Amino acid sequence: MSSDSEDASPRHVGLIMDGNGRWAERRGLPRLSGHREGLANAHRVVEILLNYGIKYVTLYLFSTENWRRPREEVEGIFQILEEWLAKETEFAREKGIRIRHLGKLDGLPSGLRGGVGQAVDLTRNGEALVFGLALNYGARGEMVEAVRRLVRDGIKASDVDEGLFGRYLYTSEVPAPDLIIRTGGEMRLSNFLLWQAAYAELYFTPVLWPDFDRSEIDKALAAYKKRQRRFGALSPSG
Ligand code: IPE
Ligand code: IPE
Ligand code: MG
Repeated sequence: MSSDSEDASPRHVGLIMDGNGRWAERRGLPRLSGHREGLANAHRVVEILLNYGIKYVTLYLFSTENWRRPREEVEGIFQILEEWLAKETEFAREKGIRIRHLGKLDGLPSGLRGGVGQAVDLTRNGEALVFGLALNYGARGEMVEAVRRLVRDGIKASDVDEGLFGRYLYTSEVPAPDLIIRTGGEMRLSNFLLWQAAYAELYFTPVLWPDFDRSEIDKALAAYKKRQRRFGALSPSG
């Protein structure tokens, strides 16, 4: 029994792509070049994970706290994201990838909002992999929004349980992440999937996101396979 879970690949991988700005700064390039390179790498990483048979990937693209950055950087990121998303939507259709959105569309520029809507619509029948885009996403905001909708739906306090609450989050229909990878050296979640990550295995690497390539992915997956997941029990089999 225990070897089953130890050998298993993660079903759901969460990716906190950090270090794009530093990657550019170290090369004397503007930070936006780092964001562009970061998204090009996100495409490569998702393709590799798809080929590895991973069924769910959630990518942290822009947090609700990232609005605190200078306006030019925020606007530049949105512009680059819009172009990337159009190409990614085509790729997703070819490969049978289903794109989902986690976060608030309100506040995003209309072109990007439209792009997200199209990506979700045009890929809704994809079954090879579910690709979650955490864009204008924050986990605390997600939970507050869930509570608001529970109240609006007139749900009785005694009917609220973990399962029901989970269905009010952006990730209803998606299993909890098994592995969350953060590049760029910081060891924190920065408001990413706080509820869903309760039992995720966390993997931190100093490698900057644009340099996070196949060999680094392999290292992360190998580290995951060595973890013993107990979920509070004394052994993986319970
Ligand atoms: C991650 O890279 C992308 C976003 C948060 C939008 P950063 O832009 O945070 O890169 P660093 O951490 O400044 O290097
Ligand atoms: C986290 O990276 C958000 C995304 C990767 C989109 P940040 O660079 O914003 O995180 P902090 O500010 O270092 O916590
Ligand atoms: Mg950062």
